[in-house]
Amino acid sequence: MSLHALRGMNDILPPSTSVWQEIEQKARDVFGRYGYREIRTPALEEMGVFTRTIGDTTDIVEKEMYVFQDRGGKWVALRPEGTASIVRAYIEHNLSQEDAVARFFYIGPMYRYDRPQKGRFRQFYQLGVEVFGIASPRLDAEVINMLDLYFRGLGLNDIEMEINSLGCPICRPKFQKAFFNFLHQNESKLCPDCKRRMERNPLRALDCKQEGCRQLAAEGPSIQDHLCDACEKDFDIVLETLGMLGSGYKINPKIVRGLDYYLKTTFEFTSTSLGAQNAVAGGGRYDGLVRLMGGPNVPGFGFAVGLERLVDLLQAERGTSSGSGRNGVFIAAVGDKALPEAVKLAAQIRSQGIAVDLDYEGKSLKSQMRRADKIGARYVLLLGETELSKKIVSLRDMETAQQEEVPLAALPGRLKKP
Ligand code: HAM
Repeated sequence: MSLHALRGMNDILPPSTSVWQEIEQKARDVFGRYGYREIRTPALEEMGVFTRTIGDTTDIVEKEMYVFQDRGGKWVALRPEGTASIVRAYIEHNLSQEDAVARFFYIGPMYRYDRPQKGRFRQFYQLGVEVFGIASPRLDAEVINMLDLYFRGLGLNDIEMEINSLGCPICRPKFQKAFFNFLHQNESKLCPDCKRRMERNPLRALDCKQEGCRQLAAEGPSIQDHLCDACEKDFDIVLETLGMLGSGYKINPKIVRGLDYYLKTTFEFTSTSLGAQNAVAGGGRYDGLVRLMGGPNVPGFGFAVGLERLVDLLQAERGTSSGSGRNGVFIAAVGDKALPEAVKLAAQIRSQGIAVDLDYEGKSLKSQMRRADKIGARYVLLLGETELSKKIVSLRDMETAQQEEVPLAALPGRLKKP
């Protein structure tokens, strides 16, 4: 019987894991400078955490959630995204009482039962941030700029940021009505899903998976023409602050996002090299969500990056799937007496923080050298009868092919910077 990973769920293998580690480390560095602290929530939650919050007429809730009854009969769901879980934890642990402002970041797998294709998986990783307690539109710009700097810091250039305002509970209903009227007049051109949800949630047509619905919706009224004065002013401040911080943007009135909790600022980072699934990150403001979930009236803002797509973009720009060049040490021990010495030496060198590998099976020097080359060791330490009797090792620099004899006692210092 041969066993396989489930469709749409990927094993992440070395050497590409080093790129994953790099992007996670960079996020900790950059986001840490803005005061974000890590939060970890369970992958499995009560189903209700997601259904009401993400919106029961969204594709995610209608079609894509992994939902099942656990052995106790409770309906549970694998999280399709991070925000709702984090708001649940924020309320459950009374975190608004600790500090009026809270900034979190998270990394973890999310689950959506969609049709797998390039850049779209059933298990995928998100790296995200959520900020609670700041209503100022300057915050929106600061967070978007932080993400922009993070991407640039990784060396990503082939990306664009698209931004929109979805209005607020005052102006959005008027826009939604105008949009519904437009769809109603063109109902025959809509897919069955859009027809069904047209009355309750007409804006979903802008985000429909059917190209025809999206094209039609793009000809409809624009939210940008329906914003109230307060939303227009806030949006101007977001754009002005982005300009001040040096982040470029493109206003795209068609961005509605696939989740219902947003209002005011929404944005996506896209790249043409990603193909049809072109968003590498998305987010926005969700001021009513904490209250909707039974918490205090606290504003929220955040985003999530799709890590598979980010890794894809980085590998495409860098033109390589591995990361760095040679590093670490390989000890080539020749002869029975050399192996125990090699094991001891390996432990000493590792305790200096340097990676060491060696051969335990008495292979020929030639085959050990081949292995050292294959694993990309920077240095090979040759340890044979002669070296043992002279209390030295022959140290070969695999980059320069230079070889020298180094007394064992001098080795720690010599290897300081491999
Ligand atoms: P989202 O746009 O649904 O937003 O997902 C964010 C990112 O996750 C997308 O831009 C994409 O890169 C990646 N992604 C989504 N679905 C898949 C998939 N099936 N396969 C691979 N990658 C995928 C959210 O989830 C919000 N919670 C973001 C947010 C945080 N808003 C406020 N705070």
